[in-house]
Amino acid sequence: MQIQKVSCFGAGYVGGPTMAVMASKCPKQTFVVYDINEQQINKWNTKQYPIYEENLNEYINKTIDKNLIFTNDIDLALKDCDIVFLAVNTPSKSYGLGAESQLDISYIDSCLQTIKKYPLTRKLILVEKSTVPIKTCDYINAVLKNLNICVLSNPEFLAEGTAIQDLLYPDRVIIGGPLESSQQLASLYEQWVPKDKIIFTNIYSAELSKIVANSFLAQRVSSINSISIICDKIGADVNEISQCIGSDSRIGNKFLKTSVGFGGSCFKKDLLCLIYMCESLQLDEVAQYWRQVYILNEYQKQRFINLIITSMFNCLRNKVIVILGVTFKAKTNDTRESAALMIIKKLQEEQAILRIYDPQGKIDNVEQCQSLDGIFQGASAIVIITEWEEFSKIDYVQAFNQMAKPSYCFDGRNLLSGDLMKSIGYLYYGLGRQYWPIFTEQDDTKTFWNKKSINFTQYTIIY
Ligand code: NAD
Ligand code: UDX
Repeated sequence: MQIQKVSCFGAGYVGGPTMAVMASKCPKQTFVVYDINEQQINKWNTKQYPIYEENLNEYINKTIDKNLIFTNDIDLALKDCDIVFLAVNTPSKSYGLGAESQLDISYIDSCLQTIKKYPLTRKLILVEKSTVPIKTCDYINAVLKNLNICVLSNPEFLAEGTAIQDLLYPDRVIIGGPLESSQQLASLYEQWVPKDKIIFTNIYSAELSKIVANSFLAQRVSSINSISIICDKIGADVNEISQCIGSDSRIGNKFLKTSVGFGGSCFKKDLLCLIYMCESLQLDEVAQYWRQVYILNEYQKQRFINLIITSMFNCLRNKVIVILGVTFKAKTNDTRESAALMIIKKLQEEQAILRIYDPQGKIDNVEQCQSLDGIFQGASAIVIITEWEEFSKIDYVQAFNQMAKPSYCFDGRNLLSGDLMKSIGYLYYGLGRQYWPIFTEQDDTKTFWNKKSINFTQYTIIY
């Protein structure tokens, strides 16, 4: 069977960019992106894209109205279709058994109900593109029993902010399921991905590999964040440690940046899904191992918040605090699970006056500044949450001159030079880099250690 028409359910962060890149690389096939949300489709069709991704525009412009269509019309999506990608959201369940842990596949289920009702006229390859709990393929097969379908797993590994690059040059493409259909799906990818990067597996392995990949990546962030906590205590520099261990080719130098905690729509939910699966299989030790990755991440966020509050002497009421960044990482407009959400909430509880700025991200029900103009005037503290390049280019001398004194800077991304910030006069705190705001003026870490009488817990609850 020659693939002619491909559809994708879900026009979100994955569906939109993935289909745009596929359409540009596979000019002989037609790609239809279908979504139940009318507004979402209108945004794609009117170039008010619902997501921000570098170079996305170029790929949409190349293909839209040629072989790429965004639609709410199910007939347009399913009529004479050969392959359907399911790229709908699979958040953590918010209710019932497995709440806050297991992935919610009810959006997948609603796609299946739609497909079940549709009078298919030819064989349909149904592809799990969404991240799903292991064995979801069995569920799909059971629901669509007696239909002429074949289920494959083809998880997506793009990261936000680099989605187009990741789609153009994937490290690998994983296809799990029956060989003949797998090869048909591979024939699309082979139009731009080298054959040796396409890995065929059994379907359960494909499903699980996605959950495992994200859990491993999350584990790496928690590992380096755990080291940042040690560094804060003993006076080593976590950036130097990342460099030292990252130059070991077995460890590798990626994903070793300490931060205020990982965020995003994927890491937390996929990690919790792995933990839930281990618990369901009564693998308690394994579950505990992975749960610690999650706990450490929550701890790192809490530690940062406590640091802000305690180093400002627990007196933030009516003080102006500038929040730089609300997205979970730079180069995206996505704020899902961003550390900013928790930090903003806690600072609001302290009755601080927040001035929040992000070049792309918006969070619900919170007023945000449109630019950096005048944002530092009279502020007591700057809190950096996202590593936008723009924030490293701010004139921090000018900002300091406009700020109330003392002027704090809490750098949740180690974006700035701490020595420079201190030389300007800031009480600067970076993660795992010896910058303790409480002691910077009078004490270095060593003398702090000698002053056993200091009640450290007074300043942070972490140790
Ligand atoms: P998203 O929330 O951005 O988009 C999902 C879209 O699906 C929404 O527009 C929603 O309206 C639509 N939808 C829901 N039910 C539908 C239905 N029955 N029919 C048609 N459309 C429907 O989600 P996302 O971030 O693109 O993630 C999608 C999946 O891909 C998730 O499983 C996620 O874990 C996985 N994933 C996400 C990323 C990422 O970086 N965001 C990367 C890799 C994998
Ligand atoms: C992740 C996976 O990388 C991707 O393969 C998968 O398809 C979806 O989930 P994403 O969540 O978009 O992608 O971004 P990623 O770059 O992985 O970052 C996740 C979080 O970890 C961000 O908050 C980021 O700031 C943080 N992070 C990442 C660190 O704190 N330190 C690092 O060294 C790397």
